[in-house]
Amino acid sequence: MFVMEILVMPDPAAVGEEAARAVTRILAARPRPVLGIATGSSPIATYESLARAAAEGEFDPSAVTAFALDEYVGLPLDHPESYHRVVQRDVVEKLGLSPERVHVLDGTASDLKEECADFERRMQAAGGVDVQILGIGANGHIGFNEPGSSLGSRTRIKTLAPQTRRDNARFFGGRIGDVPIHCLTQGIQTIMEARSIVLVAHGAGKAEAVAAMIEGPSGAHCPASALQWHPRAIVVLDEEAAAGLKHREYYDFARDNSGSSLV
Ligand code: F6R
Repeated sequence: MFVMEILVMPDPAAVGEEAARAVTRILAARPRPVLGIATGSSPIATYESLARAAAEGEFDPSAVTAFALDEYVGLPLDHPESYHRVVQRDVVEKLGLSPERVHVLDGTASDLKEECADFERRMQAAGGVDVQILGIGANGHIGFNEPGSSLGSRTRIKTLAPQTRRDNARFFGGRIGDVPIHCLTQGIQTIMEARSIVLVAHGAGKAEAVAAMIEGPSGAHCPASALQWHPRAIVVLDEEAAAGLKHREYYDFARDNSGSSLV
């Protein structure tokens, strides 16, 4: 069954709680749970809620294998903004995951193509991703698949969009020149193979991209719009990120009337 569930919450903290509930529910049903991790600011509240759930015994991180979406090319692994460090800090330590089961692409590898191919092999060997947490870029990217990315793409080297470099300069003390130009990222097809997706977005800066993802035509101009073809995508938004949706009334009505036998 193909379903995109759209849940609008009052604020970013509630977005995190709802997303964490969905992730917990999906992983609890899997004997060898595999989690897909996004970095950036959007999923921070989700990781905080998952950390609370782990502390309260509602989420078991002990058997979880995890794969991160992307990494900058050329940033030393111990740089505070390398996704190696960010994943360690924001996810592994907070949730209590086993570091040896957490995979992050190595943007310093001497053979980047082989690194991408090997990452795909590791994902396959783990049995694929059960639930992928995603944010969305203001330009509609998922992972670092910028507008124009092939919908059939797999893990590979990409050039970051100027807008993404401007947006991410805030993590580099506002110095755009310090933001790497290239990255490694799971492809759109790689992401689409996750059995479930939980995408979180908050803030007015995401409203246009969110509307294009859900209601725009599906195409490479908005990589997140590929999710319209995903069998099980849950989109959790705050009011500001949902502000551009034309059919909001229907999404709320569908949510309020979806018995568990229907979805
Ligand atoms: C991060 C990633 C990106 C971000 C997106 C939103 O691993 O893949 O797609 O999710 O750029 O970033 P924030 O959440 O910082 O607005």
